[in-house]
Amino acid sequence: MSISGRIFAALYDRMMEGTEKAGLRAHRQALLAGAHGRVLEIGGGTGANLPFYPDQVQRLTVTEPEAPMAKRLARHLNERELPAELVQAPAEELPFEDGSFDVAVSTLVLCTVRDPERSLAELRRVLTPGGRLLFIEHVRSEEPRLARWQDRVNGLHKRVGQGCNCNRPTLEKIRTAGFAVTDLANDRLAKAPPWVRPLIIGTATTNGAASTA
Ligand SMILES: C[S@@+](CC[C@H](N)C(=O)[O-])C[C@H]1O[C@@H](n2cnc3c(N)ncnc32)[C@H](O)[C@@H]1O
Repeated sequence: MSISGRIFAALYDRMMEGTEKAGLRAHRQALLAGAHGRVLEIGGGTGANLPFYPDQVQRLTVTEPEAPMAKRLARHLNERELPAELVQAPAEELPFEDGSFDVAVSTLVLCTVRDPERSLAELRRVLTPGGRLLFIEHVRSEEPRLARWQDRVNGLHKRVGQGCNCNRPTLEKIRTAGFAVTDLANDRLAKAPPWVRPLIIGTATTNGAASTA
């Protein structure tokens, strides 16, 4: 367990407080209102989404590979008495059968996973045919000037942010993985540094076609 991982987990909720209050929490609530049935959340962190899962969720499985985060998540899961389990696993290797979930959730995780392509392939595999991925992700800017800045600062950002990349074209990756994006909104992550602000919020289904390009 790295010291930086422990510090990041201990400070995460405090670091995010302003951003949550300035709009992120509202996005979580609106997005997760659409969760139902068997739900998988990847990279659950400290459990920021837990208050927003509606009653129509039959069973919630939250994965989190990092022990210091998982410890906090476990505490929050116990407090909420949700029909939920915590599984310590990376998104690249989900220990679930094909077609196990109706809905998958990724919020601020595809920026950090080691291998986004593999993680998305795993998400598609464990969803039922027609299953939905609900996502909130900060992404590479569509403005070339800001995108260039994101490329320049990414090395430092990644070190400070425990592996978080600020320049990933995540929407493209979701589509290339074979998801069809059915709802999409763009926003700015308030109270965050400019290179982390471009935000996408949306829903994708497994009905797209995976691209080998
Ligand atoms: C920025 S935090 C987001 C936490 C939470 N999802 C949220 O919305 O607040 C990124 C999370 O991804 C987790 N993570 C890192 N590598 C991962 C991987 N390979 N698979 C799944 N989660 C990962 C981190 O441990 C951390 O909890």
